[in-house]
Amino acid sequence: MNPQVPTATEKPSAATTARLTLDGKDYDLPVVVGSEGERAIDIRKLRDTTGAVTLDPGYGNTGACLSAITFIDGDKGILQYRGYPIDELAEQASFLEVAYLLIYGKLPNANEWKAFSDLITRHTLLHEDMKKFFEGYPPHAHPMAILAAMVASLSTYYPDSANGTTDLNIARLVAKLPTIAAFSFKKSVGQPFVYPRNDLSYCGNFLNMMFSVPSEPFKISPVVERALNMLLILHADHEQNCSTSTVRMVGSSQANLFATIAAGIAALWGPLHGGANQEVIEMLEKIRADGGDYKKYVAMAKDKNSTFKLMGFGHRVYKNFDPRAKILKAAADDVLKALGVNDPMLEIAKNLEEIALRDEYFVSRKLYPNVDFYSGIIYRALGIPTDMFTVMFALGRLPGWIAQWKEMRDDPSSKINRPRQIYTGALKRPFVPLSAR
Ligand code: ACO
Repeated sequence: MNPQVPTATEKPSAATTARLTLDGKDYDLPVVVGSEGERAIDIRKLRDTTGAVTLDPGYGNTGACLSAITFIDGDKGILQYRGYPIDELAEQASFLEVAYLLIYGKLPNANEWKAFSDLITRHTLLHEDMKKFFEGYPPHAHPMAILAAMVASLSTYYPDSANGTTDLNIARLVAKLPTIAAFSFKKSVGQPFVYPRNDLSYCGNFLNMMFSVPSEPFKISPVVERALNMLLILHADHEQNCSTSTVRMVGSSQANLFATIAAGIAALWGPLHGGANQEVIEMLEKIRADGGDYKKYVAMAKDKNSTFKLMGFGHRVYKNFDPRAKILKAAADDVLKALGVNDPMLEIAKNLEEIALRDEYFVSRKLYPNVDFYSGIIYRALGIPTDMFTVMFALGRLPGWIAQWKEMRDDPSSKINRPRQIYTGALKRPFVPLSAR
């Protein structure tokens, strides 16, 4: 298993140049063109030649790397993994196939698939000693804290100092993350851990570890298994988002894979990123408890004196629609119907969406539902508790983080990530001893 991975560095070409004038002097900067025609002004030599740096807090206009993994056109609502449209993958592929595609650059053939899925199946167990770690956490510990800590702890069992362990450690991580996630849930509800089963699919095994109890083995519904598979695929990669950039940032110092992914999990936890799916349901619950007056909450979101935001709305990249949200909206209807679940949250969510999409505030700012808006409603219907939602996101995003980390590590021209700044603090001044202050 180590197929020819498309490299990130070979495709772009410097087709033309951009001219910058500074202090009356002209500088020609190369323009790099990606395979889908996206353009970037290459400023790598800017500081050496002009003495100036660029300023872009929040990195809204900064291309931090060349990457051959995921293509997004935010205006057209396009998302592709390694060239394959997200809707085709969500409809037809298995999550593990997509993981292979992202990490190794191609869809696996029959032999590659067998080798990869066997490897993942064989590494799902946690070292027995790691089970003891769970005992130390308080009963209501947030599962994202446990997930990050346990993933970092994997590095103590599987050091990656030796050459040639990368593929094995990647498989270990993909195999063990569902086990860690399910154990953290079992810990939170005070139930015994359920060990992984090799006869089940990746999603089926996770559901079994989550919902089986000794007195009653869990009957895995194909509807639930399929819905989970689709949700994980939709979250599997999203190019240089906050957590992925964190993974690249931490990985650029050559920290080990487990520590690097633990950092990505921490970044994902924030409410402006992966934590938004939990916030969406909490917001919908609040609206419901408050009598269901969603218009009041839309008004609050527009009010500049209020800090309230419509969670699950808006996206840094998508300014037209989020293709994942479109798929999830339709899936929410199908899954709830198939499971016979009548969730009033779905109604509130649809009403909120409808009113917001007609409102000038949201229209002019190009704010649309993002992936988190409907995913929580499906997770609820699958029986997954609210504080596990971001953990579910992490399970899905894992192959993307690994693929981006691997792409960076395999690129011989990669450097440690180290942005510059513009200093705005005090000028040099003498120290004043405490007695004189
Ligand atoms: N509700 C109300 N107003 C909003 C919202 C919202 N959800 N999102 C953005 N706005 C407003 C901002 O107040 C701003 O208004 P202004 O121009 O009058 O100042 C304008 O829209 C632009 O918003 P920014 O915050 O500048 O957009 P940015 O690209 O920096 O942020 C973000 C994107 C973080 C996703 C933002 O839209 C947000 O906070 N949304 C809610 C949280 C959320 O759903 N996060 C999940 C993102 S998807 C993901 O990570 C998987």
